[in-house]
Amino acid sequence: MAMRSFSNTHHAISVIFILFLCVWCNGQEEEASAAPMEETEKEALYSTIQGFVGNWWNGTDLYPDPCGWTPIQGVSCDLFDGFWYVTGLHIGPIDENSLDCAPNVEFRPDLFAFKRLKSLSFFNCFVSPSLHPISLPTDSWGVLSGMLESLEFRSNPGLTGQIPTGFGHLSKLQSLVLLENRLTGELPTNIGNLTNLRRLVLSANGFKGQIPYSFGVLDKLLILDLSNNSLSGPLPLTFGGLTSLLKLDLSNNEMEGKIPSEIGNLKNLTLLDLSRNNFAGGLIQSLEELCSLEELILANNPMGGDLLSVEWNRLQGLVVLDLSNLGLTGGIPDSISGLKRLRFLGLNDNKLTGNLSPKIAAMPSVGAIYLYGNNLTGELKFPEGFYGKMGRRFGAWNNPNLCYPNGLGGSTSHGPYGVRKCQQEVTLYGVDDPDLKSNMGNNGNLNQNSQFIPSLGFSRYGGEVFWCLFLVATSMVILL
Ligand SMILES: *[C@@H]1O[C@H](CO)[C@@H](O)[C@H](O)[C@H]1NC(C)=O
Ligand SMILES: *[C@@H]1O[C@H](CO)[C@@H](O)[C@H](O)[C@H]1NC(C)=O
Ligand SMILES: *[C@@H]1O[C@H](CO)[C@@H](O)[C@H](O)[C@H]1NC(C)=O
Ligand SMILES: *[C@@H]1O[C@H](CO)[C@@H](O)[C@H](O)[C@H]1NC(C)=O
Ligand SMILES: *[C@@H]1O[C@H](CO)[C@@H](O)[C@H](O)[C@H]1NC(C)=O
Repeated sequence: MAMRSFSNTHHAISVIFILFLCVWCNGQEEEASAAPMEETEKEALYSTIQGFVGNWWNGTDLYPDPCGWTPIQGVSCDLFDGFWYVTGLHIGPIDENSLDCAPNVEFRPDLFAFKRLKSLSFFNCFVSPSLHPISLPTDSWGVLSGMLESLEFRSNPGLTGQIPTGFGHLSKLQSLVLLENRLTGELPTNIGNLTNLRRLVLSANGFKGQIPYSFGVLDKLLILDLSNNSLSGPLPLTFGGLTSLLKLDLSNNEMEGKIPSEIGNLKNLTLLDLSRNNFAGGLIQSLEELCSLEELILANNPMGGDLLSVEWNRLQGLVVLDLSNLGLTGGIPDSISGLKRLRFLGLNDNKLTGNLSPKIAAMPSVGAIYLYGNNLTGELKFPEGFYGKMGRRFGAWNNPNLCYPNGLGGSTSHGPYGVRKCQQEVTLYGVDDPDLKSNMGNNGNLNQNSQFIPSLGFSRYGGEVFWCLFLVATSMVILL
């Protein structure tokens, strides 16, 4: 059944189109329902669908001309050599006329009779993991290898078992999406044979083991999403070969080791999400070579190291930078404040130290900065309007040695949320004793003198708040 040359096909289509027009003009619908479709193709379609939606569904009765005048929702057809063939099959509740799956759904062998099938998808079809778990057919996928470009199983909690190695024969495949099912086992090495893949999404299943090195040869891949599985082992060095990649999401797995410097080859990468893994070995310098990067999300890894290894202002496209909970030490370099498009900066829950440069507040696009849970020190010298504008989206609490200057503005002014005023206690208690003052440190840092606080009978923060409110109230009374 080889496809004829283009001109012949074209000719055939024209003839059929003219035939159609005549039929339409004469209003002879009966004739049109005889549109050519091989009996075997039609029977395969009826049987396949019946396997998914249940035996009550009788295609012969309901849809005598499935590619013509009685189209079936979710089925698309194309003409080849003057005959209709099924080219798309989409099962699952997408709209109200869709084919809904039965509780006792089954794959029938007829699924592999469609030699012209380009696109096959199942949404929310296999839904009973306990009552009726179902696995993917292991054999026969090779039959679809000549045509199938898109294969998708999405939100099927009853779909279990492994990815059949037969998927590795679908050499025309451009999109493989296995999202939110209960698939398990290791990822087959021969997925690396699918060199036409543009999109590979295997997210939110139970896949385990290492990512095969062979994935690194998929140089047409634009999207690689393996997030929310139990994948382990290192990021393959071969990933430097994924040069077309726009999005790489490996978040929420159990991957470990150092990020390979080869990652710097991914010049078109806009999203890199490695969060919630066990990656270590520090932030490598190659990250600064990812010149198209818009979102860099590495949060929640035992990464270690510091922020100085990367020249951040080389990543001028960066919009989201989430480096929270990485065990980072050292200071926050000025090169971060050079990121003009940055809207989100997450550096919270690290071990960062040193002072905060006011340049951070001057980043033109920034809408949220989280620095809480570090050991930043000194006075916050940001413009006051900044705190008001940001509210809690400027998060600097839980930095015990950080404070903001007293006396700026009046009592109505906004301070940084959860950060105490510097030297407040000195003025509050009217301490004149120079020894006592020096005991409290230059910044009025009570935490450096732990005996001092309990002796006054206040908890660390509670006492301050109380006295602050008291002072405010008193000054209002006096003013009135
Ligand atoms: C569909 O219904 C026809 C009669 O209306 C019957 O002959 C045929 O066997 C039925 N097909 C299936 C698959 O049940
Ligand atoms: C497919 O992949 C396997 C394992 O990676 C390899 O041995 C085989 O040669 C590949 N086949 C083709 C046709 O590329
Ligand atoms: C992956 O996990 C995260 C966090 O648990 C969750 O927010 C997200 O919705 C999950 N993604 C998918 C596709 O299930
Ligand atoms: C990267 O993107 C540019 C611009 O969109 C494109 O011209 C180029 O071919 C891409 N590079 C690769 C390796 O795909
Ligand atoms: C925070 O830094 C100060 C010095 O600036 C140091 O004395 C203290 O031990 C640090 N705290 C923690 C929890 O690392």
